[in-house]
Amino acid sequence: MKKLGLILGILLLSTGAALAADSAHFRGHQIFEKWCAPCHGTGPGKPGTIALQTKYQGKFPALLEERTDLTPDIVVYFVRHGVSIMPFFRKTDITDADLTDLAAYLANNHAPSK
Ligand code: HEC
Repeated sequence: MKKLGLILGILLLSTGAALAADSAHFRGHQIFEKWCAPCHGTGPGKPGTIALQTKYQGKFPALLEERTDLTPDIVVYFVRHGVSIMPFFRKTDITDADLTDLAAYLANNHAPSK
């Protein structure tokens, strides 16, 4: 019986961790939709998507959400500094905690280096 309790405990703990990761992913997506999608979303007339299409010519996807090369550090850098017509975002708009989730969300496709 003791063993069963332990196994149940481990199961519960790992579900909790998975749920926490899911909600960070969900928050990251929400923040992206609010602050980034107007420029980096799909559909016509999105200046970020158009600029990245021109910049990379298909070498990387024009959509940030499809990139596999982004790391959290790169995302944080651009969000806090801006580039060309992209404004930088203040901590009063995107908090450090929000930015952590956003950066993790966009770096989610990033293959972990071995
Ligand atoms: C006003 C439009 C606009 C908004 C809003 C915006 N961006 Fe951008 N972003 C751009 C443009 C345009 C570029 C390309 C600049 C260039 O020509 O290099 C860019 C470039 C980037 C890059 C660099 C990609 C690369 O490979 O060079 C990252 C990362 C990025 N944006 C992330 C974000 C994130 C995350 C958000 C939301 C917090 C965001 N951007 C919001 C317009 C925007």
